[in-house]
Amino acid sequence: MGIVIAIDGPAGAGKSTIARLLASRLQYTYIDTGAMYRSIALLAGRQGVSMEDAARLEALAAAAEIELLPEGRVCLNGEDITDSIRTPEVSAGASKVAAIGGVRVALVARQRQIAERRNVVMEGRDIGTVVFPNARVKVFLDADPGERVRRRQGDLPSTVSAEELAAQLAERDARDRGRAESPLVQAQDAVYLNSTGLTPDEVIEKILEIVRREK
Ligand code: DC
Repeated sequence: MGIVIAIDGPAGAGKSTIARLLASRLQYTYIDTGAMYRSIALLAGRQGVSMEDAARLEALAAAAEIELLPEGRVCLNGEDITDSIRTPEVSAGASKVAAIGGVRVALVARQRQIAERRNVVMEGRDIGTVVFPNARVKVFLDADPGERVRRRQGDLPSTVSAEELAAQLAERDARDRGRAESPLVQAQDAVYLNSTGLTPDEVIEKILEIVRREK
């Protein structure tokens, strides 16, 4: 089993940027588990599977071949879907498929498998609570609501208004925090870090301090 650094937190807190940079600094493998849930949502949309159809969604998750490539690119059944999984529709769909226990079981098994033979920085919602409760380092990365909206705006085409984006983020968060299966919650032994007003380098430095302490 490799070393696991778990980074959990709500959408727009800066997890992806931080986890990717941290992994490259430590020469660990970066794993974006949100991309896995997004892949299943994309597949469901393409195949016309309802977000309520738990049995079919579970079957999709069990059969999907998801590859997380270096630099954060994502392949689904051999197709590069990196850009297709960042739309507002897929974001909302991912949050819905992620509430289904059977989908989570399939994806969590893969996440554990990935870390069997390598050191990872893994980001998501339940990494420190459910996937790796014994992770070496756990960070709960947060940011104030306004900052989270601004960051997401930077990631998306300017066709989405700040108000719309704020509403989408709030809805997704409420679903991710309120679901019965592995809800988004800070692990008891996670370090809470609010990245509002900090540069990525400042956040990385704080996490590296925690990593050094845990060695
Ligand atoms: O991190 P993200 O925004 O790409 O995640 C997309 C959705 O997937 C998010 O709304 C919640 C879900 N998710 C999850 O439930 N558990 C994870 N470990 C990662 C993501």
